[in-house]
Amino acid sequence: MSAERTQVGIVGAGPAGLVLSHLLALEGIESVVLEARSREYVEHRVRAGVLEHGTVELLREAGVGERLQREGLVHHGLELRFGGAGHRIVLSDLTDGRTITVYGQQEVVKDLIAARLDAGGDLRFEASAVSVHGLDSERPAIRFTHDGAERDLRCDVIAGCDGFHGICRDAIPAGVLAAYEREYPFAWLGILAEVAPSAEELIYCHHDRGFALHSMRSPKLTRLYLQCEPDEDLDAWPDERIWEELQTRLATDDGFRLGSGPIVEKGITPMRSFVVEPLQHARLYLAGDAAHIVPPTGAKGLNLAVADVRVLGEALAAWYRSGATELLQAYSDTCLRRVWRVQHFSWWMTQMLHRFAGDDPFEARLQRSQLAYVTSSRAAATTLAENYVGLARV
Ligand code: FAD
Ligand code: DHB
Repeated sequence: MSAERTQVGIVGAGPAGLVLSHLLALEGIESVVLEARSREYVEHRVRAGVLEHGTVELLREAGVGERLQREGLVHHGLELRFGGAGHRIVLSDLTDGRTITVYGQQEVVKDLIAARLDAGGDLRFEASAVSVHGLDSERPAIRFTHDGAERDLRCDVIAGCDGFHGICRDAIPAGVLAAYEREYPFAWLGILAEVAPSAEELIYCHHDRGFALHSMRSPKLTRLYLQCEPDEDLDAWPDERIWEELQTRLATDDGFRLGSGPIVEKGITPMRSFVVEPLQHARLYLAGDAAHIVPPTGAKGLNLAVADVRVLGEALAAWYRSGATELLQAYSDTCLRRVWRVQHFSWWMTQMLHRFAGDDPFEARLQRSQLAYVTSSRAAATTLAENYVGLARV
């Protein structure tokens, strides 16, 4: 079997793996990124769309923010809609001018892939990691298949950036990791439609029939989500039914009209909260969805993945520069502080905005009271705003 060698072996070319590879290259550290899927597939996978202030800054400072700055939609506020009326949360006023930027995850991925390939970076698509070995040694290795052959990639450290269904987390010996998990009794049905957004900002909508979200990707593309059953059958949702349900949930007393158009993408996103601790075992470091999942209501998954690899990139840079291990040793604890803050925020947004099974009238009244408070108290609105745009320090 042929073996190759690099400094950092990265499994997964999602946002975590690609940002890490890019940050390492800026520090003169070599990496190889192994990605099971094709380039075409990862560049067209429609997922998240909201970038925190700090994520945008990092991408810009790292030299991959040019198109993001040109095409990204900067938002200063968002709307919470309930009881047939909208209430604006002015994010920037509540957070010393911080904003969010709407820019599709697949666009971030395209920009990063282009930047890595332009710089001569080693990205291997359709290269599936099968297993990892020698984690306790100074030369851990990733076994992977590529072009029908099985190979080993020897490295100094391995970054497991292979998402929730990857192989890295499971390669850690039993008993090392503790897992914390919550499943929600609902999912999101998401669509992308060729129609101008019906509002300038995001609308998070609480409705007796369930949650709805209005978002966008560009002045011509609208992204919309509906709370649905966890085992929902997409075939039960022809386009007309989706538009009708969205219009019903997003309706306001002053006659909000949702524009409709051809649906170009349709999918179901399960909802779960999940964390493993610690994020590291010997020479394997987990980052992003490989280590934690948040329900999408807070728009945090992608941002959290980027926050992890920023910490990991800095720690590896210090180690390669001087042999200092302090930052690497602190990696898991440093990341977990943000992970749990974001877990709490995402859970809080989720439980405030969704319809829960059983229609418990007590719960429903608590939700309405919470929504009324968040939209009328500056202190409560600030809590939402500073978490939503992303906390600089946690
Ligand atoms: P991923 O983006 O999952 O990247 C992991 C990569 O590893 C993938 O490319 C995968 O193909 C690759 N891989 C896996 N196994 C292997 C292997 N054995 N060998 C090589 N490569 C491997 N967040 C939001 O905030 N809002 C949303 O609306 C939203 N929608 C989502 C919809 C879906 C269907 C999913 C799955 C997630 C969604 N998220 C959303 C979450 C957000 O997209 C993720 O948090 C983000 O992608 C995390 O980035 P990552 O790099 O850690 O993982
Ligand atoms: C989008 C996704 C989210 O999970 C969210 O909270 C807001 C917006 C989006 O895809 O645009």
